[in-house]
Amino acid sequence: MIQFLDLHKINARFQLEFQHKFNEFLNSGHYILGKEVAAFEKNFANYCGTKYCIGVSNGLDALILIFQAYLELGVLKKNDEVIVPANTFIATIIAIEKTGLKPVLVEPDINIYTLSVLEIEKHITTRTKAILVVHLYGMLAEMELISSVVKKNNLLLIEDAAQAHGAKNQQGIKAGNLSNAAAFSFYPSKNLGALGDAGAITTNSELLNNTIIKLRNYGTSSKYVYDFIGNNNRLDEIQAAFLNIKLKCLDEDNSKRRKIANHYLSGITNKKVKLPFYNQSCNHVFYAFVLMVENRQSFIDFLYKNNIETLIHYPIPPHKQQAFSHLKASALPITEMIHHQIVSIPISPVMTSKEVEKVIKTINNYS
Ligand SMILES: Cc1ncc(COP(=O)(O)O)c(C=O)c1O
Repeated sequence: MIQFLDLHKINARFQLEFQHKFNEFLNSGHYILGKEVAAFEKNFANYCGTKYCIGVSNGLDALILIFQAYLELGVLKKNDEVIVPANTFIATIIAIEKTGLKPVLVEPDINIYTLSVLEIEKHITTRTKAILVVHLYGMLAEMELISSVVKKNNLLLIEDAAQAHGAKNQQGIKAGNLSNAAAFSFYPSKNLGALGDAGAITTNSELLNNTIIKLRNYGTSSKYVYDFIGNNNRLDEIQAAFLNIKLKCLDEDNSKRRKIANHYLSGITNKKVKLPFYNQSCNHVFYAFVLMVENRQSFIDFLYKNNIETLIHYPIPPHKQQAFSHLKASALPITEMIHHQIVSIPISPVMTSKEVEKVIKTINNYS
């Protein structure tokens, strides 16, 4: 069976380094907010090109902390509207709701799955205060166009970069450094994945950085002094230690993903399958390789019978979830079509060329 994602194989590459680091960590007797978290924050800020990085508990908390900080700073107010792509993962929208803001669900561009600039402009009102872009599946949203809308309307721009570690634009500027603040997830399946939950925020704002550092640790400014009603959203020291090891391999892993994507793009010729758009630049890190197929279930069954696992990112759109039944979303036909037809095929830095060839051949045999 070709697994959708072989996490054991991904992490086995680092086994000796992990074991060595774990022993060092165990013997240190320092298990929360120690030198590994501090080192990771420095390393990841350097990697993204930002002034600051704050390690936190997971990607959802990273998004929540950004909004909470802007609320504390008075930059945002309760019930302000935040424009967000309707086809994102649920956590993006949960973060907006949890902080008392109003998500405004906007259709993506059908060809690239990220926010459509035209659709954004249609939804801007006097209550709009921020745009939360999602670099879905690992491809940067159209940041230049979106940034000009943001400037024109004096909005905040926030990135959900949970799926886009290392994606960069033509000028070499990376995800995480294309907005006021960005949220990352290091959930194990991500391009940079921990061995448990982990996340981070990147920003160039000193004020935002200082506020989030407090908020992630009960609101603490110094020991037993609290400026805000904060949370326990700290990045675990041992996860930071693992991430420091894996970060060194991220660019190489992303290149391997792009190479597999190019094999798929040139090898898959079945007309029943719509391939993803890719402009051959480093703006895509292929967290997922997403096809569109009209009769999706029969395609999934065919691949499974041929020992290939697939996944759907994601089968039910947020506005069709019971949790968000209160959201008065306008008609979202593009989002609904995407959610009916998308299917992700295996892609990872540890896939062998034989496996890639088998996936291509099997898909081409599907009728
Ligand atoms: C686009 C997106 N946003 C947010 C999250 C939330 O991250 P986490 O699972 O670390 O909370 C994820 C990942 O799961 C994601 O893919």
